[in-house]
Amino acid sequence: MSDFRKKLIAGNWKMNVLPSQAEHLVNEILNGASNADCDILFIPPYTHLHSLRSLIQNQGSVFIGAQNCHQENSGAFTGEISPEMLKDLNVDFVVLGHSERRQYFGENDKLINQKIKSALAQNLKVIYCCGESESEREAGKHKDLIEMQIAAAFSGISEKELSQIVIAYEPVWAIGTGKTASPEQAEDMHNFIRVLLSNMYSETAGNKLRILYGGSVKGSNASDLLSRPGIDGALVGGASLKADEFCKIINAAK
Ligand code: 13P
Repeated sequence: MSDFRKKLIAGNWKMNVLPSQAEHLVNEILNGASNADCDILFIPPYTHLHSLRSLIQNQGSVFIGAQNCHQENSGAFTGEISPEMLKDLNVDFVVLGHSERRQYFGENDKLINQKIKSALAQNLKVIYCCGESESEREAGKHKDLIEMQIAAAFSGISEKELSQIVIAYEPVWAIGTGKTASPEQAEDMHNFIRVLLSNMYSETAGNKLRILYGGSVKGSNASDLLSRPGIDGALVGGASLKADEFCKIINAAK
């Protein structure tokens, strides 16, 4: 029997929304999602974390996350933000391994593994992103690639630590392109990832693990994706910037 996994709908704002507009967007979303039956996570730029944290104090199912962090807690790393700083701001989650960090900032699996360990050491929860490129899928190598990414990212991570991690499967070809993985493709990969983690840790750990889908999720495709039992939520980019679209996704998660 699989353990109950509450759905999680996360909005990754990327480098969008001005600090002066952030509270308005969050309020609009929370008003439109007052009957939500899922966890909601806002992942704004660093500059918005403090004000949004104050705005959503003590709301049981609403969380705040950061889009990245450095692997060290302090030091001469101009321009960087540490996991300890995020914890001090009472941030709940940090996203690590996003394909845009890998592609534009040269982050590799070894670095991502270090970041995961540093974030967990600060009691931050981690959203770990993995996903294949279009050419890897066309070559039929998508499962091998995910297996390699996960083996590297989770090296030295204990089963207890795994309980603080959510995996987001985000095929690179579906991010910001309007091309969504079909519910069948997404479910197939989620099942593959769950079996992989069950083999690496235990069946109980695999059953408890939340696996989100990301890549062109919007109001019109959310229920098809979210009604699949292996899909435990969504990591949403573009559609999380529009209150009505994001609310449709939240309201599709039951
Ligand atoms: P889009 O929803 O804009 O495709 O972005 C997905 C994503 O990268 C979320 O992290």
